[in-house]
Amino acid sequence: MMNPTERTPIIAIASGKGGAGKTSFTLNLCYQLTKLGKKVLVFDADIGLANIDVQLGISTMKDLSDVIQGFCNLEDIIARSEKGFDIIPGRSGFEKQPFLTTLERRDVLKRLRDIAGAYDFVFLDVAAGIDNEVLSFTKYADRTFLVVTPDPSSITDAYALIKLLKTKHEKENCEVMINQAGSLPEGKNTFAKVRMAAEKFLRVQVPLVGIVPYDRQYSTAVKLQQLTSIAFPNSDASLAIEKIAKGLASEYGNRTGDNVRKIGS
Ligand SMILES: Nc1ncnc2c1ncn2[C@@H]1O[C@H](COP(=O)(O)OP(=O)(O)O)[C@@H](O)[C@H]1O
Ligand SMILES: [Mg+2]
Repeated sequence: MMNPTERTPIIAIASGKGGAGKTSFTLNLCYQLTKLGKKVLVFDADIGLANIDVQLGISTMKDLSDVIQGFCNLEDIIARSEKGFDIIPGRSGFEKQPFLTTLERRDVLKRLRDIAGAYDFVFLDVAAGIDNEVLSFTKYADRTFLVVTPDPSSITDAYALIKLLKTKHEKENCEVMINQAGSLPEGKNTFAKVRMAAEKFLRVQVPLVGIVPYDRQYSTAVKLQQLTSIAFPNSDASLAIEKIAKGLASEYGNRTGDNVRKIGS
């Protein structure tokens, strides 16, 4: 689908409701891509909730608010996780921070695009919901992976987001990732519902990213501040995410390093 020489993909991970599994999926996917030798950056765009740093047990001194206030550059707040990928925290563990204004958001996204070339993949872990902040991040991204669970309200929310992106922003770049599927048939059935609604009512195609099963070990791993892919590498969920990572890597021609610029060059 993509030409391997194209610019680094910025991929938003979104969902209608919180708790679908965006953050854990993003982090596990980043880890799997790192294992494949990819350079990966994840931007914690769930601003207001210190998600990623909490899940990884890292804390940083500087955050986005320092960038916005002009105290430092975006590069300066990149944290390296011990898992091997880089993270831009939405905010540090200490301070509460207001939502970004539209202008600030645009500025941050522009800066993000400037440094994306130093990576093979950039992910945006977007807040739940369908408000302007979420829309502007997903609108800006090259691709959007919508995390959907078999919960009927999750399906409805996914549809609402696909619809808003199309009608308000003429964006049809949503792909669907089914998470917490009780079984493969349930996962397929959930995807079929989203796909049919999008095709029938919106004339939008929503490709399937993959189906990740519900996995009890997942929350155990989160409680241990550990990625399930590391704590339980052979669980069905870990294997499913690994497969998605391999698919993504090969879609971009399995490039590593060669096409990756150094920051600032
Ligand atoms: N495939 C899965 N199987 C079981 N539990 C999951 C799965 N994906 C996510 N979870 C759990 O769901 C909860 C919410 O996940 P999280 O990634 O924080 O969601 P979000 O970022 O969308 O709000 C966490 O406790 C996580 O462990
Ligand atoms: Mg989250």
